[in-house]
Amino acid sequence: MSALEDIPEPPHPERVRMRFLQVGEDHAVKEARVLAGTTIFDAASWNGIAIDSTCGGHGTCKKCKVKVVSGNAPLSPVDPRAFSTEELKNGWRLACRAAVEEDLTIEVPPLQTRPKAALVGVGRHVILRPAVQKRYVELDEATLEDQTSDLERLLAAMDDVEPRVPLEIVRGLGGTLRRANWKVTAVLADDLLIDVEAGDTSGRRHAIAFDLGTTTVVATLLDLETGQPRAVQSILNSQQPFGADVISRISAIMMDDGALDTLQAHAHQTLQQLTEEVCTEAGVDQADVYEVVVAGNMTMIQIALGIDPEPLSMAPFTVVARRMPAATAADFGVRVHPRAPAVMFPALGAYVGPDIVAGILATGITLDRRVRLFIDVGTNSEIVLGSSAKTLATAAPAGPAFEAAQIRCGMRAADGAIEGVKIVDGEVELTVIGDVAPVGLCGSGLVDAVAELVGAGILDNSGRFVLGTSERLGKIGEENVFYLSDDVFLSQRDVRELQFAKASIATGWTILCKDLGVEPTEISQVLLGGSFGSYLSASSAVKIGLVPKLPLVRIVSAGNVAGEGAKIAALSVTERAAAHAILEEVEYVELSGRTDFNDLFIDQLRFPE
Ligand code: FES
Repeated sequence: MSALEDIPEPPHPERVRMRFLQVGEDHAVKEARVLAGTTIFDAASWNGIAIDSTCGGHGTCKKCKVKVVSGNAPLSPVDPRAFSTEELKNGWRLACRAAVEEDLTIEVPPLQTRPKAALVGVGRHVILRPAVQKRYVELDEATLEDQTSDLERLLAAMDDVEPRVPLEIVRGLGGTLRRANWKVTAVLADDLLIDVEAGDTSGRRHAIAFDLGTTTVVATLLDLETGQPRAVQSILNSQQPFGADVISRISAIMMDDGALDTLQAHAHQTLQQLTEEVCTEAGVDQADVYEVVVAGNMTMIQIALGIDPEPLSMAPFTVVARRMPAATAADFGVRVHPRAPAVMFPALGAYVGPDIVAGILATGITLDRRVRLFIDVGTNSEIVLGSSAKTLATAAPAGPAFEAAQIRCGMRAADGAIEGVKIVDGEVELTVIGDVAPVGLCGSGLVDAVAELVGAGILDNSGRFVLGTSERLGKIGEENVFYLSDDVFLSQRDVRELQFAKASIATGWTILCKDLGVEPTEISQVLLGGSFGSYLSASSAVKIGLVPKLPLVRIVSAGNVAGEGAKIAALSVTERAAAHAILEEVEYVELSGRTDFNDLFIDQLRFPE
């Protein structure tokens, strides 16, 4: 009797059924259905079954040995090098080389080493498969009898790869081989040989994942051996004096011929400062960072690369290239290994840029059967709605309210900023960052304040202050204000700013729901991301109508998803390819020009009853 007979689901032409028998203490059995063509290694990893590997599935460590006990998995060219004829006959295969074409039962030996996967993004389980690989080789010394060239000798020792070799490598190769007594480590980034190092340096392999935000820039130093972060640092983008948002940065460039160079230099200086900080913190030599991944909005990426961003700011809003050509860390002003590549994400459009593609990767929206909504809340808010069946994305110009830039008492989320507001029995309770006296109001405090004022009846649903409802109401000039503390107040105009911002976002997801053919109540999960969205209170977001009215457990903070996406791309070339596939999988919806936009926007200006 086949071991698969009792799996109830009928076979599907594109899907195969797998049963994993885990040999070891608990003899666990797991069943799974996967797409035909998936490797046994991936199928196992996706189903939480660890298979030994130290090469991350590259077919070089020969540790991912499994035994096919029912069904047939064809031999790969590497299998005869890993197994005896007898073992091959008994069904032994390298899991990372074996593509599943039919129903299989697999015996998985217990782990000898640590699993090579990391949990990143919004619960994403990423199999480590970095583009950066190291190969330690001990070569035979050249002799009169064996005059094989230095390069051929090195390449012959790495017979499973055929790298491209830059001239600079050949320039130094002869000296390195002889100085190192023919024991060297080749460093590969994808198919490019980027260095040949003396001795065995195979344990040192790092990358930096950057989130180049308009306001904040974050760097994570990753150990590519373990997939674990070694250090994380963030600082303000030093382009700040040129304006808080992308439009003011572009305006600065349009008005002054030298401004692009200056802003580019600021971006480079910010990225380099972070590089030094993370490497110092982790005690890692900057030269041991062999790759950087940069996520950011299109304006930030173009400026950092010295590309005029002006076309991004005016109709028809075109990007210079949806997929950037190959670049190096040096092109971003980052001084790590001199030949380290810089990896970027593709862009769906001018305002649904590489940062959102990184976010889609980190949230896994296009992989999940549930309908989920992701909102990156900011000056320009990006909205993604969908599932593995279909995903739509749009951008909603929300204005600077959430950054608190145009709020009378607005400030960044720093010490002294009110970040939380509660009104209990008419009493105002404030949460202030740093537990100091309040000096201003940051974005999350603004949303909380308005939500609580609406809840207390001090603001009506149209957003107007209801005079006589609180002793804290007053006037500054002709304008009604509500005093949150002696010095910090919320004005009528501030409330209007927030109404426009939230109506813009709510109109965005309403239109995406219409186009996708789902009701907002059918959304399984709302992910709030970005440096502002991650700190928003779910209940306040619902109360002001920024997100659909759903049970609060369905509304979660997704954190810095662009930065998480950058980490995922650094850890896995497979995931990097998936990010490029997002361009084909996700449909961009342009809001301007929609005939239904204005009516929906006006409806959404009100606060929900
Ligand atoms: S995982 Fe290393 S050879 Fe398969």
